[in-house]
Amino acid sequence: MTHATPYLITTLDFTNEADVSHVAHLLYAGFSNHSPAWPTYAAAHAEVCAQNDSSHCNLIARTPTEIIGWIGAHPQYDGHAWELHPLVVAPTHQRWGIGRALLNDLITILQSRQVSTLFAWSDDETHSTSMGGVTLYPDPLTHLVSFMPTAHHAGGFYLRNGFVLSGVIPDANGAGKPDLLFVRPLSAKI
Ligand SMILES: CC(C)(COP(=O)(O)OP(=O)(O)OC[C@H]1O[C@@H](n2cnc3c(N)ncnc32)[C@H](O)[C@@H]1OP(=O)(O)O)[C@@H](O)C(=O)NCCC(=O)NCCS
Repeated sequence: MTHATPYLITTLDFTNEADVSHVAHLLYAGFSNHSPAWPTYAAAHAEVCAQNDSSHCNLIARTPTEIIGWIGAHPQYDGHAWELHPLVVAPTHQRWGIGRALLNDLITILQSRQVSTLFAWSDDETHSTSMGGVTLYPDPLTHLVSFMPTAHHAGGFYLRNGFVLSGVIPDANGAGKPDLLFVRPLSAKI
């Protein structure tokens, strides 16, 4: 589906405190239902400020009245691979193609810099995939092969947008709460 309200994708201007505050509210609201990652507005605000680095890429989607999406990424592995972090779309605007539009713009920028790989870690702290709430040892590969996300986990978004699941850290956030690694080659079309 295409979003009904017009929106623009621009670079996040960290000198604009109102925009930084809007993005912090977006991050807080976007994760509050399903992840303890940023349990307070203050924690979300600190996370936004932590991305204020000239080597990072931060894009926002904005309507005339509000900021409705944010994608960030930063270089790893001498710039050959970039880590996507964070990605959030306002709960009221999800499933309208905004996450994909942000991702596609980020990919275009990274492709112009000859980046080969984009990767994202995605926690499952709420048993919202087939790999949450289970013992992944002694054979995590078997669980990776049969991975199934529910609609409440971003894994489905990544799989729909050119990523593959390629790794897991079992119990990364406590027993039965793994962190999942999604990777996407940037040379291939979605
Ligand atoms: C994950 C997230 C960014 C997706 O953004 P979005 O704008 O809702 O996604 P889009 O509308 O662009 O979706 C693009 C495609 O992915 C699919 N999709 C999106 N979220 C999905 C999900 N959770 N499960 C399965 N498929 C999903 C859409 O149906 C669409 O499919 P299509 O190929 O048939 O068109 C958004 O749901 C979000 O902010 N979630 C909370 C924060 C979060 O989990 N961030 C990621 C942390 S790693």
